[in-house]
Amino acid sequence: MNTIQRLESNVRSYCRSFPVRFTQAKGSFLHTDKGERYLDFLSGAGTLNYGHNHPELKEALIEYLANDSITHGLDMETQAKAQFLEVFESHILKPRGLDYKVQFTGPTGTNAVESALKIARRVTGRSHVVSFTNAFHGVSTGSLAVTANDFYRERAGLPVMGSDFVPFDGYLGPRTDTTDFLDRILSDTASGIPKPAAVIAETVQGEGGINVASLQWLENLQTVCRKHEVLLIIDDIQMGCGRTGSFFSFSDADLEPDIVTMSKSLSGYGLPMALVLLKPELDNWRPGEHNGTFRGNNLAFVTARRALEIFWQDSQFADRIQERGSVLEGRLQDYLDSGPGESIQLRGRCMVQGLDFGSGKRATAVAKRAFEKGVVIETSGAKGQVLKFLTPLNISQSDLEDGLNRVKQAIDEVIHDETATQRKQFAKIINPKPITTWS
Ligand SMILES: Cc1ncc(COP(=O)(O)O)c(C=O)c1O
Repeated sequence: MNTIQRLESNVRSYCRSFPVRFTQAKGSFLHTDKGERYLDFLSGAGTLNYGHNHPELKEALIEYLANDSITHGLDMETQAKAQFLEVFESHILKPRGLDYKVQFTGPTGTNAVESALKIARRVTGRSHVVSFTNAFHGVSTGSLAVTANDFYRERAGLPVMGSDFVPFDGYLGPRTDTTDFLDRILSDTASGIPKPAAVIAETVQGEGGINVASLQWLENLQTVCRKHEVLLIIDDIQMGCGRTGSFFSFSDADLEPDIVTMSKSLSGYGLPMALVLLKPELDNWRPGEHNGTFRGNNLAFVTARRALEIFWQDSQFADRIQERGSVLEGRLQDYLDSGPGESIQLRGRCMVQGLDFGSGKRATAVAKRAFEKGVVIETSGAKGQVLKFLTPLNISQSDLEDGLNRVKQAIDEVIHDETATQRKQFAKIINPKPITTWS
């Protein structure tokens, strides 16, 4: 047992799936103390959309540090913050015609979600929030209330309240538009569901098993929210910053959410940073009412600004992501069409794709085998049944193809091993061992 295993809490998780000691990382690769190299198909659960240690982001960071610039400044005015906001406005908000105030929260995703929920409740004076089946919004108590999975909810140790869950897009099959159901219950004072402050939704449920909401469903959701004067919060923490092919994952739908939460790849470098975008009329906070020591990570401001300048000053990067996304989806579809032997479902949007094996055991076995072949890849979904492809967005085509081939081999081997085991078991049933009699 090493020091980490002996001293770090049992709650640690990813290190159990990938039991090696990582030392360095560059682009799409992670390196270990034993000199092994792994292709990163996890990207810090969507935090490293531009890969590890991007040279230009690193240069900006080193220069900032070398100048003894502000590392910590509570929420005071710093040059790094001002420059980030200027570029965020000029490269992201203005070109998309979006009018939002920016609230910096504590640096992780769940901090942004907590704040978004608080704003919605405060502005509307209502306490309930509608969330969706399989939603994941973080594990602090407020966010847990809108996270669906019991595995997390039950660990709160107290009832997590103030939310109602309705079926996400596709939950009741392809023919049911679940926003009709939402509309119905919000129209009916006897539905048992109180009028909520907000509806919170992911456009693609990443942790929930790569469940993709159709653009039409998202637009219908906004229409229902507007009809009932309920705020729409889009949680873009995992799917934002280009994962689905646009900076905001909701941009392809005709959507203008009242509140947007962002984190993960926002800093571009894996540095913690989160923010909430809110329509100006919702910004009725009094100074300091919602606070936190680490609101505004100046190092993250530096890399975030640089990432916006490098990747989002025009549409070139988005075009490239979409090309890569078609390769990823196309290769996975071709593989499934080639008939790997079992029913596996492909779901996703652009650079987030999932293979649903219908069984957590099988998906985990594939992830484990893929790791043995040099690919870091994780599972998601309520039972861990979905193998989740979350590569850096700027992965080279050859690295993408190489990683995919390794994962396909892993799947083939797992299916082959399972079939062999089943055959053996079957043989045992039809050919039972003779009963030994003792004389
Ligand atoms: C959609 C979404 N919201 C919120 C969170 C919580 O973010 P964090 O783990 O940084 O608190 C996550 C994390 O995976 C997420 O995917």
